[in-house]
Amino acid sequence: MLTGGSGRLGTELRTLLPDIVAPTSAELDVTDAASVMRAVERERPEVIVHAAAYTNVGGAERERESCWRVNVIGTRHVAAAANTVGAKLVHISTDYVFGGETGNYREDDTPGPVVNYYSLTKLVAEEAARAARRHLILRTSFRPREFQYPVAFSDVFTGQDYVDVIAPEIALAVRHAAEITDEVLHIVTGRKSVYDLARRRKPDVREGSRAQAGVTLPGDVSLNTERWVALRAMLSSHAQG
Ligand SMILES: NC(=O)c1ccc[n+]([C@@H]2O[C@H](COP(=O)([O-])OP(=O)(O)OC[C@H]3O[C@@H](n4cnc5c(N)ncnc54)[C@H](OP(=O)(O)O)[C@@H]3O)[C@@H](O)[C@H]2O)c1
Repeated sequence: MLTGGSGRLGTELRTLLPDIVAPTSAELDVTDAASVMRAVERERPEVIVHAAAYTNVGGAERERESCWRVNVIGTRHVAAAANTVGAKLVHISTDYVFGGETGNYREDDTPGPVVNYYSLTKLVAEEAARAARRHLILRTSFRPREFQYPVAFSDVFTGQDYVDVIAPEIALAVRHAAEITDEVLHIVTGRKSVYDLARRRKPDVREGSRAQAGVTLPGDVSLNTERWVALRAMLSSHAQG
């Protein structure tokens, strides 16, 4: 089962995992415990991929309550429902749980200090996800297939990639969720500036600085992916064997 199936990542996951059940936010409103429990008890899934979230980083500063309700309370509800049916929770998290001072963060590095409200809720949501007896937290970062802005920041470093690059990796982890014993995995690509990422698909994008963003953004949230790279090689060799 998938929450957030209409979102950027969710839309790709529905194509990559055609058997996944993806209730709409009207059928499964994560802020409503009863609605989550009803949907989960009806389907009794083995795995719940929780991709629903309040994701507007700028908007989160102005709509703190909505952001908290969806990201934190919503994740609590999904974790509780997962426990009720014995499902494994695959929780979609973000590189923004890190402060962005050093980059190349590993799964076991201490997160924070978070630099904006969205990041705070996503960090607390990880702890909510850990209430699921069986859980896998995937820290990732992606953007739509096309770079949508005229300007891209050359002083923000990231492991982020386009959603059509990242989603197949997430789908692979979801397919093997039951056998993955790690509790946290970083799934992104190599470190680059957002400007360099943007130029790959929008060659005429202009160079900008994060000071222009209107919300505080972390400087370098690139993630170390050695754990996932090793695991992926193992999963692929099993698949071939
Ligand atoms: N985009 C990024 O750059 C990025 C980076 C790192 C991590 N992430 C994480 O990846 C996940 C997916 O992000 P995304 O960018 O694909 O999201 P998105 O495009 O903003 O879509 C959000 C999804 O959440 C659903 N949703 C919102 N409120 C809900 C509620 N109360 N109940 C049920 N569903 C609700 C939306 O449903 P409706 O359409 O019906 O409202 C939509 O399907 C999130 O956990 C996000 O934090 C995103």
